[in-house]
Amino acid sequence: MSDSDTLKREAAERAVTYIQSGMVVGLGTGSTAVFAVRRIGALLAAGELQGIVGIPTAEVTAREAERCGVPLGSLDDYPAVDITIDGADEIDPRLNLIKGLGGALLREKIVAAASRRLIIVADESKRVAQLATRAPVPVEVIPFARRPAADYLATLGARVVERQRDGRTFITDEGNIILDCHFAGLADPAAMAARIRAQPGVVEHGLFLGMAAAAVVAGASGVVVLSA
Ligand code: A5P
Repeated sequence: MSDSDTLKREAAERAVTYIQSGMVVGLGTGSTAVFAVRRIGALLAAGELQGIVGIPTAEVTAREAERCGVPLGSLDDYPAVDITIDGADEIDPRLNLIKGLGGALLREKIVAAASRRLIIVADESKRVAQLATRAPVPVEVIPFARRPAADYLATLGARVVERQRDGRTFITDEGNIILDCHFAGLADPAAMAARIRAQPGVVEHGLFLGMAAAAVVAGASGVVVLSA
């Protein structure tokens, strides 16, 4: 396991200590959150956790949870999620986030909004002084709106890149495309979030503002828990 993976696992496994038997747990997506899914599966198998229902934030996460023996449910049956453990691409000092480089931002935001607590897990490379200084802001758009949405986002100062995977347009679990919006930092992420949402055809964006209750961040000198 690489040093980076070791840190990701440490953060994820620490966050899993917040989970108690009987909870409805949002299962985040990405290379960090997957360690939480695996840990939950291991604790269920060992009988140290019981009665957990997982709400996956992506099809790939659902498949991993099934592989790990984590029982799954839906928001239809479990609309109130006790805790969600998910990764992030950037974390600012107020625990505002950019998410979605894994392509699951829409379901992630829906599950996060349904959660009493959103716990972010990350290695320290994700901490930034200001959002959008390193990662783009992913914007999920219905395919019909591709061109007008891209043109509009460019007027907001973004360099807009349609996401590709394996040489093809990336399609989300909800059948949409993602326009990655590169900015030179966002001084006022809330204002930008509102402007992005104003465009018809934009389904959701990867600015998660005021949503995280805590971030469990692993670094060379150990794990720290940051609270909002
Ligand atoms: C998935 O859509 C994303 O929001 C991920 O949570 C985010 O990209 C972090 O992923 P990693 O843990 O793989 O860096």
